[in-house]
Amino acid sequence: MMRGSSSKTLCWAILAIVGLIYGVLSLFVYFEPPSPVCPTMSTVADEKTYEATGAIEKPIVLLWFWPHGVMFDFQICSSYFNIDGCILTDNRSLYSQAEGVIIFQKGINWQLDNLPKEPRPYFQKWIWYHVESPTNTQKIPGLENLFNLTLSYRRDADITVRNEVTIKQTETKEEVVLPKKDKLVCWIVSNNYPATGTFVREKYYTELSQHIKVDVFGAFTGQRLKYEDYYPTLASCKFYLSFENSLHVDYITEKVNGPLVAGTVPVVLGPPRENYEQFLPNGSFIHVNDFPDAKGLAEFLQRLDKDHEAYMSYFEWRKYYEVTAHLLSMRNEFIHPVCLACDHISKYKEYHVVNDLYGWYFS
Ligand SMILES: *[C@@H]1O[C@H](CO)[C@@H](O)[C@H](O)[C@H]1NC(C)=O
Ligand SMILES: *[C@@H]1O[C@H](CO)[C@@H](O)[C@H](O)[C@H]1NC(C)=O
Ligand SMILES: *[C@@H]1O[C@H](CO)[C@@H](O)[C@H](O)[C@H]1NC(C)=O
Repeated sequence: MMRGSSSKTLCWAILAIVGLIYGVLSLFVYFEPPSPVCPTMSTVADEKTYEATGAIEKPIVLLWFWPHGVMFDFQICSSYFNIDGCILTDNRSLYSQAEGVIIFQKGINWQLDNLPKEPRPYFQKWIWYHVESPTNTQKIPGLENLFNLTLSYRRDADITVRNEVTIKQTETKEEVVLPKKDKLVCWIVSNNYPATGTFVREKYYTELSQHIKVDVFGAFTGQRLKYEDYYPTLASCKFYLSFENSLHVDYITEKVNGPLVAGTVPVVLGPPRENYEQFLPNGSFIHVNDFPDAKGLAEFLQRLDKDHEAYMSYFEWRKYYEVTAHLLSMRNEFIHPVCLACDHISKYKEYHVVNDLYGWYFS
């Protein structure tokens, strides 16, 4: 994905480790990355429409709402994700020319008048942008047969948003070297509102912590991490609890990507093992369902702690595959889907309609 060689790419890679996602629910807390790092980054206010050179024939993709009202720089699509097949804009005056209109579901805010006015141009596709799980999704009546494309974490969405594991061009021969570790099991958690489905993981954690020490960080623990401490903290732990807030097929989030990037073994709680195996190399993670109970898991982790060779076998995959750091902070975490929508609109010209949006999403 990131093949750019410019210092800009490096710069964004650095920015990527400058942050911490506090979960989708801590919506209004965001961290402004230190600006001196990226000299070429223009301010959002100055340049909301990004026109690449020679862009005349590129399709226009209009972002109808800024996700959660937080603006970001469209140039990140080319500088970090190497995507520049469209002209991204938030300028609604360009509506009648836009081939794609990205509509962030929460931005509708229950008022259908917040949507663009019909009729839409015959060539235009409306993109339903929603990356939360069904447990945390409210049905807004009137959207069922309105969209042309879905943009979601699900594999069967029209545009899938995931942190993919990619295949290395050449396998690495050297032994994997891990960062220094001074903690056994860690967990960063910010959202514990039971209404969002978190009771399953809360219960599991409570039981697990009776059998093994878990270092907990996050909003409710008094040990809130700064964005720049996110990856280093993960790296300092042998295991990390990648516990999803709710359990749904394909709902495997950045909570797993973080430890894989940092060189830490994710202990996953989410959909069944088979679903993880569709996205991650077997042997790169430990699944809670592999054990009869939390005590069994705790004992297994303690055994691995003492058996260096067995522990290191969880990093074999790094010789063949690689993962990409996800961008952190409210300012950055909603960019990736927008870039993917841009890429899709620039490549696919098929007529397409989404029928019964929620029937699909809640199935
Ligand atoms: C939005 O687009 C219109 C039509 O091209 C243009 O006249 C206007 O200056 C643009 N507005 C901004 C804020 O860029
Ligand atoms: C993946 O690993 C698990 C646990 O080690 C094992 O039970 C399972 O059979 C493996 N699956 C595949 C497809 O190799
Ligand atoms: C987009 O979807 C709408 C609503 O179903 C439909 O009327 C329109 O023809 C579709 N347009 C394209 C370009 O797919």
